[in-house]
Amino acid sequence: MQACQNLAWCVARAGRFTELLVRAGALVHAIDLSAAVETNRRNIGDRATYSVAQADLRAAPFPAGAFDAVVCLGVLQHTPSPEQSIAALWRMLAPGGLLVIDHYAWTLSRLTKLGPLYRMILKRLPPARAKRITDVLVDVFFPLHWAVRHVRPLQMLLSRVSPCLAYCHEPMALTREQHEDWCRLDTFDELTWAPRRSAWCVTATWSRRRAASRHPIHVRPSRTLPPRRPGSRAGLARAGRGPAGAPRP
Ligand SMILES: C[S@@+](CC[C@H](N)C(=O)[O-])C[C@H]1O[C@@H](n2cnc3c(N)ncnc32)[C@H](O)[C@@H]1O
Repeated sequence: MQACQNLAWCVARAGRFTELLVRAGALVHAIDLSAAVETNRRNIGDRATYSVAQADLRAAPFPAGAFDAVVCLGVLQHTPSPEQSIAALWRMLAPGGLLVIDHYAWTLSRLTKLGPLYRMILKRLPPARAKRITDVLVDVFFPLHWAVRHVRPLQMLLSRVSPCLAYCHEPMALTREQHEDWCRLDTFDELTWAPRRSAWCVTATWSRRRAASRHPIHVRPSRTLPPRRPGSRAGLARAGRGPAGAPRP
């Protein structure tokens, strides 16, 4: 990342990652669909190497091939077609550039859980109603997740019946309230939107791009990277057109 001269950071939200990239010396152009860009700008302030805009990544205000690196984490599953979104990100990337994406993963273990059943019902409801129901589910299940956070077998059992995404067992310096907030946000996301793709599907999208490209493409699926945290995103899929540092055609 530090070697990147010109980097698009989609998507910005509050600015934690954007700030890290700016601090690392990259020239960062951030976008987000929502008014979160205001928070992003407030948190980072005026910097010569940073700009932020409210925009849809599928119609981003950047010319084709504008960036040495495009980073898009926690976003693809929120767009109507992750495949089209990957294509749009790809368009922004210069030959030899690096694309960093992730996606919620579909795994076989989902077949052993009740969560997908809740999801089938809740995602058909109006958002306000789905939010009220999700809040009740979190009020009921989060205290249980918290209570068994140190007992692995009970956690596994609970995750079969509870539709909530809780990370209480992770070694993080967060308070109970912070864990509960996180659980509320991620559970609503999980039960009402956030489609999933198997790692295979996302890699297949890359393979099609590779076939259509004039440049060599290197795809590094998530399983070659450090193991993902349980219950979270698919991990990082990285791809670049050509080896890092390769001369541009
Ligand atoms: C879960 S947040 C992740 C934000 C950031 N990457 C982070 O980790 O803090 C998802 C973000 O995607 C944004 N988003 C969803 N669809 C988008 C689109 N089509 N174009 C740009 N941003 C989008 C939302 O506004 C939201 O801020």
